Amino acid sequence: MEKLLISGGRRLRGTVRVSGAKNAALPIMASTILGSGTHRLRRVPNLRDVFTMGRLLEYLGAGFSLSDSTALIDTGDVRGCEAPYELVRTMRASVLVLGPLLARHGRARVSLPGGCAIGARPINLHLLGLQKMGASITLEKGYVNAKVRRLKGAVICFDIPTVTGTENLMMAAVLAKGVTRLENAAREPEVVDLADALVSAGARIEGAGESIIEIEGVDELEPLDYDIIPDRIEVGTFMAAAGITGGEVTIEGANAEHLAAVVAKLQETGISFRETGAGLTVRGPQRLRASDVKTMPYPGFPTDMQAQFMALMSVAEGTSIISETIFENRFMHVAELRRMGADVGIEGSIATVKGVKSLKGAPVMATDLRASASLVVAALAARGETVIDRIYHLDRGYEAIESKLRSLGARIERLKG
Ligand code: EPU
Repeated sequence: MEKLLISGGRRLRGTVRVSGAKNAALPIMASTILGSGTHRLRRVPNLRDVFTMGRLLEYLGAGFSLSDSTALIDTGDVRGCEAPYELVRTMRASVLVLGPLLARHGRARVSLPGGCAIGARPINLHLLGLQKMGASITLEKGYVNAKVRRLKGAVICFDIPTVTGTENLMMAAVLAKGVTRLENAAREPEVVDLADALVSAGARIEGAGESIIEIEGVDELEPLDYDIIPDRIEVGTFMAAAGITGGEVTIEGANAEHLAAVVAKLQETGISFRETGAGLTVRGPQRLRASDVKTMPYPGFPTDMQAQFMALMSVAEGTSIISETIFENRFMHVAELRRMGADVGIEGSIATVKGVKSLKGAPVMATDLRASASLVVAALAARGETVIDRIYHLDRGYEAIESKLRSLGARIERLKG
């Protein structure tokens, strides 16, 4: 299994370019099922999860290739209706094909994703919404079987704003008969990007980015020709890496609007920001200051930045209270950060982080994608060497992470086997 070896203590300096957003690329790739033909998607990151979605589309009968960040997806021959367990268990976002398959074929058989490292993560709200749109749904041997003649518009009010749930139902609704209204919808930039992509192909969607989204069904969609937005969580992770090392890094291609809550929070800790023609320049202070944070749906502070923020707070001056409100088990990085000398206590969904002067390198284990990112951030600032095991988690969501960090002066190398 591959590992990362990081020798910490170097201030990061230089310029880095952000990749396309994984969590926008995945639903937009799934949405190609809705329109027959050859779709062209640009700024698609070269990531394990993107290839898993590519394999799933191939399994359904599509052609898929990715080179130079451009994905070509040919959905002319998509006849399959099944997302098998072997693919869904390696990537939960596979459930994003449910809405498009049902809309295009009136039939879908998709494995239930099961729990994962960060929580139980049910898909009940996706299923309830599809039932409201007229689908009959049964659960059998770990699979969701869904059937319908043609989906019809409905009013769907989510109990909780769910990102992939909003995306699944938006995709289902674009080819449904009549108008669908999604209430308490997720407002994340990735939801907006999916809506923009679908609208560019002929869909009628209003309100994406707000809590109420209205979709008027159309009979068919054109193939997509679309550029994916930059990855705001990758940007946030580079901000944390620059901040914790007291470095100065310019991030090219960042969309600061998507990161308002993160920027505001990092400013409280002493990190400063400057927008220039070249990008967003991030500068770390001599010593970070503690600040409390609570994760919230967008536009609040993202759960996908909580672990990296904790790495920052572990060496800040003072005590920070970090509340995780989205997922019930998203503190897996705590035990690993403690191995590096962090002083973190957990009670339920609240972590109390008492900043220490410095962390020390140690062997640690990546447990999920963002936990891995927090260990990388911590290791960059730690004294001595950190070896991070199970970095396949990191490869799911960060394109070329070690070459990007190396270009900023980090001492980082991948150990094979
Ligand atoms: N929920 C339900 N029922 C549902 C759906 C969700 O109870 O039917 C609950 C979840 O258990 C959770 C909350 O609602 O407590 C919000 O979950 P959401 O559905 O929004 O999460 P998701 O769509 O499964 C996406 C991202 C995650 C990100 C979350 C929150 C993708 C592919 N995944 O997951 O990204 O953490 O939204 O912003 O878009 C990551 O990239 O590392 C990652 C985990």
